[in-house]
Amino acid sequence: MLESLPLESWRGPYDQGLKARAVSALENGAVLFFPNLPFALLEPEKQFLDASVSDGQAKNISLDHTTGKMQASSLTGEKAGALAAMMERFGSQAASLVHELLPYRNVERARTSFRPVQVKGRHYSKISDDRLLHIDAFPSRPMQGRRILRFFANVAPSSPRHWHVGQPFEDFARAFLPRVGPHLPGKSWLYGKLGVTRGRRSLYDELMLSLHDAGKLDENFQNNSPHQAVTFPPGCSWLVFTDQVLHAALGGEFALEQTFHLDITEMAEPSLAPVKVLERLSGKTLV
Ligand SMILES: [Fe+2]
Repeated sequence: MLESLPLESWRGPYDQGLKARAVSALENGAVLFFPNLPFALLEPEKQFLDASVSDGQAKNISLDHTTGKMQASSLTGEKAGALAAMMERFGSQAASLVHELLPYRNVERARTSFRPVQVKGRHYSKISDDRLLHIDAFPSRPMQGRRILRFFANVAPSSPRHWHVGQPFEDFARAFLPRVGPHLPGKSWLYGKLGVTRGRRSLYDELMLSLHDAGKLDENFQNNSPHQAVTFPPGCSWLVFTDQVLHAALGGEFALEQTFHLDITEMAEPSLAPVKVLERLSGKTLV
């Protein structure tokens, strides 16, 4: 469930044996854990370890590295620029590590996020409560079978980040697939047309969203399905396919996260991708 790798540098080259272990564990649904890989903040950046840098609306502050546009921060002017620079530095270090450690050649670097608000004690609707076990699936961003890979770093000075990691994806899908209803064929087309989604949702996207919601809404599953508590101490990093690994973020503050997207053809073992598992279980072509 947790594959601990002794990386101490954000830059390779890394040992071949270590690289082979990394890709195999990751694709088989483990969380790659880097206990000795802190993302170091510069002295003036420590002022950003404060929940008030968030605008209090969105869960996370996000940065689009292609435009430099930052969203959901209360900061303006020079301070906003310095926070964006910190997030950009993290994102590019994470991208360099992913590039050096894994065999994937075409990895799209998507949004970078900073999570400055304590997870515990916040109020959410069940569907948007990431303290419940879930796989990642985003309503407005159809993936068409592509993967969601996320790199996290705990930059809190003293608080650990607490996760639960659940059962293998296939066990979860097997239990929930028979319970998700048929998808209305016109809905994805209409959402695409209206701009509710960025492009059209495939059947895969509809299924993943239904699985995400059904899992969160099932109290028995939340309380009784097999899961393991994982603690990420300050100064560590981790990397995980969050569209495959059931996870719940229960507590912690001040994490940075970089999202990557990749085609399943990049994978060493594409049959392990959620789209392939769901196609096998449902007997349907989903993308
Ligand atoms: Fe998540």
